[in-house]
Order: sequence, then C-alpha cells, then structure tokens
Amino acid sequence: MIFIIAYLGLIFFLLIFLFFMSLYTAFLIYSSFKGSPYVATRKKVIKEILEMANLKKGKVFYELGSGDGRVNRLAVKNWQVKAVGVDINPLLVFWSNFLAKLQKLDKNCQFIRKNIFDINYSKADYLYIFLMPDLIKKLTPKLKKELKKTCLIISHGFKIEDKGIKLIKVKEGKPFNTYYYRI
Ligand SMILES: C[S@@+](CC[C@H](N)C(=O)[O-])C[C@H]1O[C@@H](n2cnc3c(N)ncnc32)[C@H](O)[C@@H]1O
Repeated sequence: MIFIIAYLGLIFFLLIFLFFMSLYTAFLIYSSFKGSPYVATRKKVIKEILEMANLKKGKVFYELGSGDGRVNRLAVKNWQVKAVGVDINPLLVFWSNFLAKLQKLDKNCQFIRKNIFDINYSKADYLYIFLMPDLIKKLTPKLKKELKKTCLIISHGFKIEDKGIKLIKVKEGKPFNTYYYRI
C-alpha cells in the first residue's frame, strides 16, 4: 500500500514539474516570437554597467524587456532610482515583482507586462535595453520621438545604428560590449 501511495505521489510531482516546465518553455518561445529571446545580462557585469551610467537618486530608470528584473532591482537597491521594467512575458513579470517584493524594493521598482511598443518613455532619465538588433531597429524611431535629450540610453550587447543617436562611450566586455547613447 505504502509503495503504491509513494508511486502515485512521485507521478503527481513529475506531472506538476512537467506542467511548469512546459509553461516556462512556452513563454520563452513566446518571448522569442515577440522579437527577443530571454537571455539575462550576466550578474557580474550589471554593477559595472550601472556604475558607468552615473545613476542619480530619484531619477527614472526604464528597462525594456526586463527579464527577471535583475538590472532594475540592482539599480534601485544601490542607486535608489525609480525603476520601471517592461516585459511581454507574464511569468518573468510575475517573478520580477515577486523578487522585488522579497527584497523590499517594490516601492520604487515595478514591473509591467506589456509590449515595449505600447509604452511612452518620455519620463525616462535612463533607458536600459538588451534586445536583438532587429527589435532595436524597429524601436529606434519611437525612442527618438519620445525620449528627453538628456536621457541616457544603455544598450547591452548590440549597437544602435542610427545617425540621430550619438554613441558617447563603450564598456568593453565579454561576450558583450555595452554602448551608451544620447539622442
Ligand atoms: C535578452 S532578454 C533581456 C533580459 C533583461 N533585460 C536582462 O538584461 O537580464 C530580452 C527580454 O525582452 C523580452 N521581450 C522580447 N520582445 C518583447 C516585446 N516586444 N515587448 C516586451 N518585452 C519583450 C523577452 O521576454 C526577454 O525577457
């Protein structure tokens, strides 16, 4: 009898595990379809990237395609900015909000589930992206139209190729460089 209960229990947990793995995979595929797969910025380099941005307390920091929210959470924790993360993937948004609450950062760190094309960025003082080149290309006209001239754009991994957006410095890194721009 005990053997049968243990066996059924094992099957039950296996099914739950498979269900969540499938859900997770489905959302990863969904992210890729929307323009950028989920690949996180390496934790080791985030602090250096943000240090080079000279973040100021109370300023507004947007992350487009915020993944698990690690960049925003560190920016709020170490520099006390007001951060907004936007991601299309509901699981990642749920997880980011959960972690922000756990770290007691949620007052100044919110994550919203939206398409990055459906948000207005005119309040941003800093804007962080780690997106695929095609998506950056599509996004560039919107950024040029909405961003303040003083906004610092930080693009990890890929360059923004546009004459209206000026490269001001580069942080070399492996496997990715980080590029800093102003409009
Ligand atoms: C390369 S990951 C970067 C994650 C995070 N910024 C980091 O550096 O750790 C790109 C993220 O963009 C999100 N994404 C892709 N297309 C999107 C869209 N159209 N609108 C909102 N988020 C999108 C994906 O779900 C994914 O989490």
